[in-house]
Amino acid sequence: MAHLFNHNVLLGVSGGIAAYKSAELVRQLQERGASVRVIMTHGAQEFITPLTLQALSGNPVHTELLDEKAEQGMGHIELGRWADLLLIAPATADLIARLSMGRADDLLTTVALATAAPLLLAPAMNQQMWKDPATIANIATLSQRGAQMIGPASGQQACGDTGPGRMEEPSIIAQAATELFATGELAGKRIVITAGPTREALDPIRYISNNSSGKMGYALAQAAADAGAITTLVSGPVNLTPPDHVQLLCVETAEQMLNQCLALLPQCDIFIACAAVADYRPATIQEQKIKKGPQEVSLPLVRNPDIVAAVSASKHSPYTVGFAAETNDVVSYARAKMERKGLDMIVANDVSDPSIGFNSDDNSVTVLWRTGEHTAERANKGTIARQIVTLIAQQIDSAS
Ligand code: PMT
Repeated sequence: MAHLFNHNVLLGVSGGIAAYKSAELVRQLQERGASVRVIMTHGAQEFITPLTLQALSGNPVHTELLDEKAEQGMGHIELGRWADLLLIAPATADLIARLSMGRADDLLTTVALATAAPLLLAPAMNQQMWKDPATIANIATLSQRGAQMIGPASGQQACGDTGPGRMEEPSIIAQAATELFATGELAGKRIVITAGPTREALDPIRYISNNSSGKMGYALAQAAADAGAITTLVSGPVNLTPPDHVQLLCVETAEQMLNQCLALLPQCDIFIACAAVADYRPATIQEQKIKKGPQEVSLPLVRNPDIVAAVSASKHSPYTVGFAAETNDVVSYARAKMERKGLDMIVANDVSDPSIGFNSDDNSVTVLWRTGEHTAERANKGTIARQIVTLIAQQIDSAS
């Protein structure tokens, strides 16, 4: 069953009578595994208190655009980056109109502009307002921009009218949110993803490694599994829980990672090399702890095998995607790396900025392939991973 584990849902509540149902919606989303944060408009607070939604979501409710305290904690830009999905339920006629105009006159509409996350709206209003040409045009504008709708349902309305305009039931909205991630874009494809650092031992207690946390690779595994791929994660040592429905194979060294990946190749349609593999390892591993000695020591290192190059050169040759962690001339170095290693696609990652790249929650990348490129603006690694997976699916589709 599809779920929302590892997904951040930002729930926007606008001011309609259906706002009381958002309490149940928070519960339904959490039951499916989502982390939930709530933004309420001023109108929404006339119908239900922030305290109720704070207690249920377990997070402070965000209400003000210009709030110094909130901006120091999680301001509107951070909220937008945090979200994997912006779900607005209920979405009133007024809120829909403001969204379609691109207004940024309160926190919710501002975050809607500032986020790269998909937008799901659960409209709720009087049936006549729903049928009004202005609302119809606003919905059409938002749909054209990629917003998705769930509902409204038809039936008896709070005002006494009967017709379309009731907010869908929370369980149906939560299900729609869940299905949004289950894209099926890679249904049945077998994908292998490397993640995290490698560790190259110097002696029994010391090693050479790097700051890769595994977050980007694990987010890719989550996105691939959501997209219906049979997903295997070959991971160096990290402190992360693997996503559900993903096979985890743990390794330490570059050589172990290479051997594991080569063994998986006969059953692999797509290979993504996200791991930060040590380029060199100590020439010898000392059997006993190295004792402190002279002021200076030299450490002979030898080259590690290049895993992604070996995969792309293998006779099985899956669709092969590399990453390029660069600190300068990011895109041109990445393109050269794609050529040199014989890759189908490369993800250029500027790691000179510590807020993206190694051990950060966010990322911003340029994805290059032979005939095109796409820049994914800064967002959390889950959102970036879903964009990469969609691009891979599109490229494989267009080649077939
Ligand atoms: O794990 P996080 O903290 O979330 O950080 C994510 C990340 C910054 C590690 C990730 O986004 C990233 O950029 N991964 C690639 C890091 C890297 O080693 O880049 P590179 O430019 O040195 O290597 C180029 C490509 O060759 C990479 O796909 C790498 O996996 C692969 N490689 C490198 C060396 C080697 N011996 N074998 C390889 O397969």
